[in-house]
Amino acid sequence: MHQVLKTFAVVLGVSLICSLWVTSAAVLLKDRQELNLRLDKIRHLLDLAAIPAGEDPLRAYQTYIEPWLVDLDQAQVVDPKSIGLGDLAAFSISAVARDPDLSRPISKELDLAAIRRRPKYMPVYWVKGERGFTRLILPVYGRGLWSTLYGYLALERDLATVAGISFYDHRETPGLGGEVDNPRWKALWRGKQAFDAQGQVVIEVVKGVVDLSRPQAIHQVDGLTGATLTTRGVDRLIRYWLGPDGYGPFLETLRKRIATEHGVG
Ligand SMILES: Cc1cc2nc3c(=O)[nH]c(=O)nc-3n(C[C@H](O)[C@H](O)[C@H](O)COP(=O)(O)O)c2cc1C
Repeated sequence: MHQVLKTFAVVLGVSLICSLWVTSAAVLLKDRQELNLRLDKIRHLLDLAAIPAGEDPLRAYQTYIEPWLVDLDQAQVVDPKSIGLGDLAAFSISAVARDPDLSRPISKELDLAAIRRRPKYMPVYWVKGERGFTRLILPVYGRGLWSTLYGYLALERDLATVAGISFYDHRETPGLGGEVDNPRWKALWRGKQAFDAQGQVVIEVVKGVVDLSRPQAIHQVDGLTGATLTTRGVDRLIRYWLGPDGYGPFLETLRKRIATEHGVG
């Protein structure tokens, strides 16, 4: 009996020590994990900005990227402090989308991205060149097959030509939906036109391969082989975020502003 109790005591002791160790490691590493996630997003932004991350991505970010917070429904820029969002670098889309004061539901007919709610405010990132802003990078997200894909879509200064796309978080299957990370597929987006002459979102990810001999090819990107559902998710999330319930009204405001003598940047 004594032996059994002793064994139990040892097992209990070892489990206690192990669980304490794991818990404290998780707590101690939390800050580092958050920093790494932030750096990863910064690397994606710099990549889309065509700026080398170098030794110090944070410094490159601070030098070349200018974040603005946008009130999507008002189609205007807001001071993050005025709504209690001091540091835009710490902006968490998923946390803000859960906050009833900072987000709003999306009506079913409009919810192409299948995200149900969205932040009222989103950060956007201007890329600073020698002669003003060169690109605008927009955070985008929406459902794929297994997961919500979070990424960025970069537009050239005309706010219509795609400069690039990059997803920093998803759980699609490597080799299938995970091919959203394939540089060859991402390169297909460059130079595509997102809108038609009337300003409607016409960019689409097609099933299969784009027929380059047709005029609409300028708006089309090849689908991912064997990953029709992820492909459809990406197609829809891009069209949602560029559309009237996403950045559409803000982009329209910016285009008008660029057309006047003031411009931006
Ligand atoms: C293990 C496994 C993982 C899969 N992962 C993905 C995925 O990440 N994205 C996707 O669109 N389809 C994925 N599929 C395939 C889908 O189940 C579905 O068959 C496919 O998207 C439909 O494409 P099709 O219309 O070209 O057949 C996966 C299938 C299996 C069996």
